[in-house]
Amino acid sequence: MTRHLLSIDDVDAAAMAEIFDTAAEMHDVQRRAVKKLPALRGRTVINLFFEDSTRTRSSFEIAGKWLSADVINLSAKGSSASKGESLRDTVLTVTAMGVDGLVVRHGASGAAHQISQWVDVPVINAGDGMHEHPTQALLDTYTLTRRLGSLEGKHVAIVGDLTHSRVFRSNVKALLELGASVTAVAPPTLMPAGIDDWAKAAGFATSYELDPVLPSADAVMMLRVQRERMSGGYFPTAREYTVGYGLTRERLGLLGADTPILHPGPMNRGLEISADAADSVDRSVVLDQVSAGVAVRMSVLYHLLAGEETP
Ligand code: NCD
Repeated sequence: MTRHLLSIDDVDAAAMAEIFDTAAEMHDVQRRAVKKLPALRGRTVINLFFEDSTRTRSSFEIAGKWLSADVINLSAKGSSASKGESLRDTVLTVTAMGVDGLVVRHGASGAAHQISQWVDVPVINAGDGMHEHPTQALLDTYTLTRRLGSLEGKHVAIVGDLTHSRVFRSNVKALLELGASVTAVAPPTLMPAGIDDWAKAAGFATSYELDPVLPSADAVMMLRVQRERMSGGYFPTAREYTVGYGLTRERLGLLGADTPILHPGPMNRGLEISADAADSVDRSVVLDQVSAGVAVRMSVLYHLLAGEETP
């Protein structure tokens, strides 16, 4: 693996397989009564979160702790960033304390990459603006691999607010790298600018319509409508969005009986995903994604920070 994890471009299929193998071992640890492994004893990891987060931050924290690292959480609210300190000064200040790894979430696309040039410890991108969220794509593809086996030739539909989604951008790359085919579905207003060129170059499909895509999908990934990143009206009403692009109870009938439904969370129930879909026992893998998140992040921390030692 590379020294940092800033983008899915940093991991090819072979590196993903290695991360998944270690994650599977870590997954077993999750089921034990005593969950600690000594792999990162004596190491310190800082979670530097300049944007809100529930699962990403807590799963990085749990992952670090289960590997026996000391984990410190810093968020912009409550840190000197809210007093006007620059990003560079904040980062240099915390790394001067002697940390071994930084996990960064920031609203600006490219922030993690920029930070990696200021420090000499591994940096993990936990979401940078509308750019990438590589550990999310790794945990999503790990979840799918456990459910479907090899993703070679599998068809995955990614549906929703693609314009604002770093989860979409990282997942397309990860899925294609693993041999899956991808159809990106969104209303025209939520299709990223220039997607046609990217789709042609990378080799994935796009569609403004959901219904024709679902019957051939081996998995469907629903993405959140990111109202906090929207400045104007991207669709007329919430109801209209749901009618066109929500995974409603009626649309579940277009999916196979055990076709996995993914959502990275947080979910807008009733908007992009119905309760019937989110809670479908045979199909929803939303909570599998959350538990895979801890295992995959343990694996990533281990590969980046533990050096040659075995767990
Ligand atoms: C995603 C994120 O923050 O990019 N959530 C997550 O990490 N679980 C997706 C989202 O906010 O909709």
